[in-house]
Amino acid sequence: MRPFLKWPGNKYRIVNYIKAKLPNGNRLIEPFVGSGSVFLNTNYNEYLLADNNEDLINLYITLQKEGENFISFCRSFFIPDNNTKEKYYYYRRLFNITKDPRLKSALLIYLNRHGYNGLVRYNKNGVYNVPFGKYKRPYFPEAEMHYFWYKSQKAIFIRGDFKDIMAKTCRGDVIYCDPPYVPLSNTSNFTNYSTGGFTLKHQHELTKLALKLSNQDIPVLISNHDTKLTRLIYKNADITRIKVQRYISCNGAKRTKVNEILAFFKGKGSGF
Ligand SMILES: C[S@@+](CC[C@H](N)C(=O)[O-])C[C@H]1O[C@@H](n2cnc3c(N)ncnc32)[C@H](O)[C@@H]1O
Repeated sequence: MRPFLKWPGNKYRIVNYIKAKLPNGNRLIEPFVGSGSVFLNTNYNEYLLADNNEDLINLYITLQKEGENFISFCRSFFIPDNNTKEKYYYYRRLFNITKDPRLKSALLIYLNRHGYNGLVRYNKNGVYNVPFGKYKRPYFPEAEMHYFWYKSQKAIFIRGDFKDIMAKTCRGDVIYCDPPYVPLSNTSNFTNYSTGGFTLKHQHELTKLALKLSNQDIPVLISNHDTKLTRLIYKNADITRIKVQRYISCNGAKRTKVNEILAFFKGKGSGF
């Protein structure tokens, strides 16, 4: 099943490769859940799903609690009258100022489907600033929301940093990490580069945590771009390269092809 949100870096296209590498376990933990492609397409008994995007987690919690009521409320924004530049910017402003979590959650879906190219972007003051998308007939993801709601009954959603979430793990858990991608520029620039605040330091911290947990028999799978840097960072893991090249724009107009990598830090002696 497809996620109901369009999310940058979503793993829907490679979910079968990810599933093939994920071991069995009782609970799947996703510290970077995004739109939840892996959650939606796996079958664990329990899920701990986290992200540091507060709007995203509030939306999931609202949908989980309210189901059909909330889906109807979201549907009410998908009318032709609301598919204009003026209405889009009105609702974007409302999204940025409202203190009502239910309204904010519904508006996130409206903005996600009416905004430019499925972008999700905030400025450094936390203001959502994606421009109008000019779609003819924005799609309301009703079936996708229903399925998410149904599956969410097995899940706990937490807003938090990956380090805090990974500290909540125990034996029997399986962890899938899909951090923001490493940049595709020259290795020498990497230390200062950050993607949405996620720096090379964070990529290293994540790898260290994965190693530590795998030494405690908790397997961790990480996905990222396949680059010289990621092959180096993940050198202690079992590496799978996935040849599903995507065109990624880097340095403005320049577009380049890139593959994906899966790094599996398996539980020591656990039979995983
Ligand atoms: C590549 S996306 C995950 C995509 C997801 N696997 C999917 O299929 O949609 C990375 C996610 O990490 C979240 N994120 C960024 N920095 C984080 C941090 N320090 N701790 C937790 N989540 C973070 C972002 O909000 C984003 O949703």
